[in-house]
Amino acid sequence: MRGIEGRVALVTGAGRGIGEAIARRLASEGASVLVNDLDAEAASAVAAELGDRGAAIGGSVARPADAEAMVARVQERFGSLDILVNNAGLTRDGMLHRMTDEAWDAVIDVILRGAFNLCRAAAPMLRRDAPHHRKVVNITSINGIYGTVANANYSAAKAGLIGLTKTLAREWGPKKINVNAVAPGFIGGTRLTAARDEETGLGIPPEVLDGIIGQIPIGRGGTPDDVAGLTAFLASSDADYLTGQVVELHGGLEIVQVL
Ligand SMILES: NC(=O)c1ccc[n+]([C@@H]2O[C@H](COP(=O)([O-])OP(=O)(O)OC[C@H]3O[C@@H](n4cnc5c(N)ncnc54)[C@H](O)[C@@H]3O)[C@@H](O)[C@H]2O)c1
Repeated sequence: MRGIEGRVALVTGAGRGIGEAIARRLASEGASVLVNDLDAEAASAVAAELGDRGAAIGGSVARPADAEAMVARVQERFGSLDILVNNAGLTRDGMLHRMTDEAWDAVIDVILRGAFNLCRAAAPMLRRDAPHHRKVVNITSINGIYGTVANANYSAAKAGLIGLTKTLAREWGPKKINVNAVAPGFIGGTRLTAARDEETGLGIPPEVLDGIIGQIPIGRGGTPDDVAGLTAFLASSDADYLTGQVVELHGGLEIVQVL
């Protein structure tokens, strides 16, 4: 893809799952990548596989000081920042009338506050004058557009991330910074979508998984690489005229019937 070679990226929550796939894809396109994760060991393992193009930092996106440290690290290690991917996320599902303050705050703090923390901390580097566009890609969800039962905290956080995306696209457009969001549907092979584990009882029951996949016109669940491909496109110079958009990535999932 054009315009990723030689750029510098920071991907949050990239120790596994979708974030890991995004970090790998950007590196394979020639970017240097700072891999962040709350799980510092996981971040280091991913970065190590990227060789000279990779560096790692632990820390929580929910903490403003950690966000500042991530930006300081990218400056020290690679000298610039061109692509920020706000991917870190988690779920604490439950019906709203039984939802605890802890469950509400945990999800809002990581997904929405986390993206705010990173965008604000990265602003001085992203807003520097440059001959090329710089890119922010926020990983939201179809839940933030359509809502989902037992998911008020997550859906509200993801909807908030869409508002942040559109506002920042307007604020930073004049600086040639594109701000877009990817709204994945069902992405298999991640912890958020793992099939039920008989021992722990955690995960999605097989009949529910079959029901979701049966409703997807493309005939399969998405993969982390599907999200990484779209993210790389948004980070590339082929998307220089695209900003403030939320791109739904769900294989044509008949969303309202399923969720
Ligand atoms: N899997 C899906 O079907 C799906 C669908 C739509 C959107 N998403 C979104 O994609 C993103 C990645 O999800 P995933 O499925 O790969 O999940 P995952 O749980 O496999 O990975 C999320 C990563 O984020 C990290 N993380 C959590 N809290 C953090 C924090 N405070 N600071 C830094 N890192 C933190 C975790 O340690 C983990 O490595 C999330 O924002 C999620 O909401 C996923």
